[in-house]
Amino acid sequence: MSNKLRTLAVALGAAYVALTVIPAFGAESVDPPRQKWGFAKITGTFDRAQLQRGLKVYREVCQACHGLSYVSFGNLAQPGGPGFSAAQAKAIAEEYKIKDGPNDQGEMFERPGRPADHFPSPFANDALARLSNNGTVPPDLSLIAKARTYERGFPWFVFDMLPGLQYQEHGVDYLVALLHGYEDAPQGFQLPQGSNYNKYFPGHAIAMPKPLNDGQVEYTDGTPATIDNYSKDVAAFLMWTAEPHLEARKRVGLQVILFLIFFAGLLYFTKKRVWSKVH
Ligand code: HEC
Repeated sequence: MSNKLRTLAVALGAAYVALTVIPAFGAESVDPPRQKWGFAKITGTFDRAQLQRGLKVYREVCQACHGLSYVSFGNLAQPGGPGFSAAQAKAIAEEYKIKDGPNDQGEMFERPGRPADHFPSPFANDALARLSNNGTVPPDLSLIAKARTYERGFPWFVFDMLPGLQYQEHGVDYLVALLHGYEDAPQGFQLPQGSNYNKYFPGHAIAMPKPLNDGQVEYTDGTPATIDNYSKDVAAFLMWTAEPHLEARKRVGLQVILFLIFFAGLLYFTKKRVWSKVH
């Protein structure tokens, strides 16, 4: 009986290895390259200047098609974010027209934005969004950096299951790769009408036309105006919109770990002391 069980366990183990390891080695890998992010570290913080540049790229390019509906203008001045002052956030809000109403005449009207308003969506509804984008709705970008991941092959997925060792920057790496990934379709690839070939988009046929080109957005802080910097900056900005409390989470996490180490030491010596007279 135990022999049978052992055979079964070995067979299951072999099947598992065959199903996971072998395809991982055989698969054509187009994993997004890993980027270095200051916010990835255990003591991580966002680069304020990078977040401000990322916001600029979003406003001048991505905003034409994508909403950012979970973010309010006031959020831009919150601690742990792009580091705008309250007055700067208010000034940015005022550059937007927000639909409000109805007024006393029962009519909807437009007014300048206020800090409590959220970034307005570019299209009034999904049907209009679809009409302008070849039948596809551009997704809201507020949470996209957390909503996209990809599986890394063996053995990395084992690490990704363990708390603490987990790599949490898959989504933001993917964003950089996606914005870089436009190429001519390889020979024989059937690109549907209105689609563009992107190396990193699942299935490779994406409805979004290549959004970024060198020199498109003016940077005033001396950072070179390249696709490379635009895509990293806007990806970092979208990481912040997806996890606005990342800095606080990391700070508190570190404090808790330090406290637990200290507390464990204290308990150890207390225990020694309390039990020292018992033989
Ligand atoms: C001309 C309109 C347009 C512009 C400008 C644009 N996008 Fe898109 N985007 C789209 C459409 C349409 C889709 C849906 C693509 C699909 O599902 O095939 C999309 C999809 C995406 C996705 C989701 C990809 C996925 O994995 O599902 C991301 C991320 C994205 N865009 C980021 C950006 C960023 C960042 C910018 C600015 C640098 C930008 N987009 C500019 C139209 C646009």
